[in-house]
Amino acid sequence: AATRTFSIIKPDATRRNLTGAVTKMLEEAGLRVVASKRIHLTREQAEGFYEVHKERPFYGELCDFMTSGPVVVQVLEGEDAVKRNRDVMGATNPADAEEGTIRKTYAESIEANSVHGSDSEENAANEIAFFFSEDEIVG
Ligand code: CMP
Repeated sequence: AATRTFSIIKPDATRRNLTGAVTKMLEEAGLRVVASKRIHLTREQAEGFYEVHKERPFYGELCDFMTSGPVVVQVLEGEDAVKRNRDVMGATNPADAEEGTIRKTYAESIEANSVHGSDSEENAANEIAFFFSEDEIVG
């Protein structure tokens, strides 16, 4: 059955006008954009969203980066959406990402890695609820 995941097109990608190019790769991977909005994260939103990483050495810089420009938050729907999205994103570090993945194609660094995607169905539900109400999601 079709399931949902949550995606962010990050500031390094919006800055380079890659919103369409990244979305095309998601769509070609069998994912459908069922909700989308371009927003500038507040510090509070970035810190809250990445709360699980708050003890990590990169947390402060990550929040700086994620608030450095606009992002596009999206809900994606498709067969096995979490895994499908993770496969098309590629590894967190673009140096480790496979050919043909979004991060291999577009990411600048392990931090400026162009996209975020939920890592489990449970986190997907939480991350979707962080940014969208159910009436904003149109399947
Ligand atoms: P994301 O999938 O959004 O989850 C956490 C983010 O932290 C990650 O992508 C990167 O943008 C960023 N990050 C920066 N440094 C690291 C690191 N050393 N390991 C993992 N993630 C990192």
